[in-house]
Amino acid sequence: MNSTVVDGKTCEISRPDASLLVWLRSELGLTGVKVGCGEGTCGACTVLVDGQPELACQLRVGEVADRSVTTIEGLADLAGEPLHPVQRALIAERASQCGYCTPGMALRAAALLAVHPDPADGQIAAALDPCLCRCGCYPSIVRAVHRAAALARGEGETGAGSELAATASPDLPSLARPARPWDMTAAEERDWFGVPGEGLVVVWPPAQAGPWLRSGGAWLHVAASGTVTAFTGKVDVGQDNRTAFRLLVAEELAVDPAVVRIVQGDTDLCPYDPGTFGSRSMPDAGEALRRAAAGAREVLIDLAAARSGGGPHARFRAERGSVVCAMTGIRLPYGALLVGAQRTEVLVEEPPLISPQDWTTAGRPYPAPRADAVTGSRRFVSDLWRPGLRHGAVLRPLEAGAALQAADTAAAEAMPGVRVVQDGDFIGVTAGDPQTARRAVAAIKADWDQPAPVPVDLESYLRTHQVDGEGWQRAVSSQTGDTDAALAAAVTGIEATYTTAYLAHVPLETRAAVAEWEDGRLTVCTGTNVPFAVRARLSQAFGIDEAAIRVIVPPVGGGFGGKHGDEAIEAARLARGSGRPVMVHWSRAEEFQWGFLRPMAVIDVRAGLDAAGSITSWDFLDINAGANGFAFPYAVPNLRLRYSPAASPYAQGPYRALSATANTFARESHIDALAYAAGADPLSFRLRHLDDERLAAVLQAATGRLGWCPGWQPAGHPAWWDGRWVWRGTGLAIGLEKGGRVATCAEILADTAGQVQVRRIVTAYECGAVVNPDAVISQIEGGTVMALGGALFESVAFARGRVASTSLSGYRVPRFTDVPELDVVLLDRPDLPAAGAGETPLIAVAPAIANAIFAATGRRLRSLPLLPQGRT
Ligand code: FES
Ligand code: FES
Repeated sequence: MNSTVVDGKTCEISRPDASLLVWLRSELGLTGVKVGCGEGTCGACTVLVDGQPELACQLRVGEVADRSVTTIEGLADLAGEPLHPVQRALIAERASQCGYCTPGMALRAAALLAVHPDPADGQIAAALDPCLCRCGCYPSIVRAVHRAAALARGEGETGAGSELAATASPDLPSLARPARPWDMTAAEERDWFGVPGEGLVVVWPPAQAGPWLRSGGAWLHVAASGTVTAFTGKVDVGQDNRTAFRLLVAEELAVDPAVVRIVQGDTDLCPYDPGTFGSRSMPDAGEALRRAAAGAREVLIDLAAARSGGGPHARFRAERGSVVCAMTGIRLPYGALLVGAQRTEVLVEEPPLISPQDWTTAGRPYPAPRADAVTGSRRFVSDLWRPGLRHGAVLRPLEAGAALQAADTAAAEAMPGVRVVQDGDFIGVTAGDPQTARRAVAAIKADWDQPAPVPVDLESYLRTHQVDGEGWQRAVSSQTGDTDAALAAAVTGIEATYTTAYLAHVPLETRAAVAEWEDGRLTVCTGTNVPFAVRARLSQAFGIDEAAIRVIVPPVGGGFGGKHGDEAIEAARLARGSGRPVMVHWSRAEEFQWGFLRPMAVIDVRAGLDAAGSITSWDFLDINAGANGFAFPYAVPNLRLRYSPAASPYAQGPYRALSATANTFARESHIDALAYAAGADPLSFRLRHLDDERLAAVLQAATGRLGWCPGWQPAGHPAWWDGRWVWRGTGLAIGLEKGGRVATCAEILADTAGQVQVRRIVTAYECGAVVNPDAVISQIEGGTVMALGGALFESVAFARGRVASTSLSGYRVPRFTDVPELDVVLLDRPDLPAAGAGETPLIAVAPAIANAIFAATGRRLRSLPLLPQGRT
């Protein structure tokens, strides 16, 4: 029998035809090798074979016989240290968000450095280009490779990093399941709180915003050991809100952030939350946690005052995990105050909060190591294992909306180890491995009816299928002045239609869930940003009380607003039917065809100028996309804004930044057109009309960093570049959304053949008080990269009424070599509440590029993507 050496250990090869990827994961348990596409286009499955990067999904085990395979689990051994320099550098540069791509990146970077000890940026981009990072961490990964090169040369900080290697998912909920979910149980009756025997529990109650429950509040526990455990309903899907929460709690409680652990993503333990969307982590959960922590601080001060003979509260202050008496200097550690205590405090009044201007912990970089992403020990949903676990696959029609007429499952049922589960129209199978489950589903003969065909002209379809909508997707209309009369009286009028394409979320880890039934109670682990909504969906699907359902969110390989629980219901159905725990992990084709899409937008804009070149009228109609990013930041006396929902022919739903990208693209492109029509510089035209000093500040910051040069637009400067004449254009755009303000400047080169290269993007962003600057910058960079795809080339393809994009090779997303020079200016406003940073930095990228293309070429592109074929 052949053998191979994997991470230094000799392994017998019993099935040489097996996929190397499957073998490493399922037989050797090396789950750091990730499943991303299965077709060799994402790089998530990268391993080193005799030191060379190879894609495990493209190799058979027999092909590595008598060779040496290195996975991320064995990378450090190559360096003979607890962590390889690449791993240490990736941690130091915080060069990951969800972390799903990180193992492949690390291996490819290590192989590069073995050959080129000091690579240039271009060499790094070229070498790592086979690896996709949908979170857009490319700039920080490049910085990490440079840092790793320095570390390997013995420059920079040294240290073995053994303490980092030992840090694996420190905040994963590891608490016992309570008898009832805590959000459904009165605080005093929550069973776990009493089990440790002592400590202080403080609860900040839920907050209502009109008819909506904006936040389920927060609670935290201060143990006699001094450990603080804080619970929030918001989840961390890679944006690292966890560190910001930790900093806020540490700030208010005056403790070291290292003693604070954050529990999130567990519906049995965490406060109810409507979902982690809309950049609400800081405004909702962050503020709730601050109050819970501040309330705990006040209770501890009261306890210290009582312990000291009842002195006035004001005589005491919280400091480094203790209460200190200003008169005597006596210091009482929190732990000492809580020995033997068992107290639950539900706050009814807002406790005094520390002003962000006085923050000493929050608002500063915090080096929270997340080593599990670089060592392969971070367990994503698709890496989970349970005793008796089966793998599931679901029978689906070719077209959405097709109804099942008949199915013959005999061939599937005859396959060894396969079980067919039928539940109404639902048919699925379970098997011992995902490949067998898929083959079994393919063996089912099914007849489907044919849904009505979808017309090819989507713009016309949406225009003729407008509806009223409901909930947050209901129609919106606002009017100031008399827009029609002002448009008729305008000296110059410009009218245009802007469109944006349907987009796919493309998380690197496709949708996955593991479900398990036990004594009538259901536990589902799934990557979602709406665990409580998934709990409600499961309750409805199975007709059981929500109290009997627990949804846990393990680390998630990207979501971007798209993971809402279909796979959780499928896994639970299969688990119930088979009586075993079941994992459902969608294929890449399922991800494209059965996930929903970012809505297409059709936007009509009409605007007028007076003789002085001032905007007198603005009429804006968004069909289908939504009302996000609708606010009009310019002073105009006659203004009409409308959003008209439409009956989309394709499933559509939430997506990072929602419709703010489309609406900002249309508004800022049209404002640019007005500026040129008025003979004005686009920067000064905007500043003249701006009605928002925060936007003016980011606009000046971005143009200042770019070196905006008023006066020479729009002709541009032809220049000799790389052996050809090119025109350089710069464009700018601004956006406001979800409490943040962004200005983006883009610099492009266009050649005579219409080829366009984006050379540089500068983003200035302000989101109030900055809690965790590293994470905000990471979100700005990653968001800019993601926006680049939608601006330039991303677009879902359709054929015969269904989604025709089924693979990463057929749907282009940004790679290393697509990323221009990125420059971020972060404005801190501690006088303002903290807002989110995960979405707003995206919204001005497309119009800035479109405006730059116009400046260079004179062509006004009004549809996203701007360059589906790579040229104007
Ligand atoms: S390249 Fe192998 S899973 Fe994507
Ligand atoms: S960090 Fe790269 S895909 Fe998420």
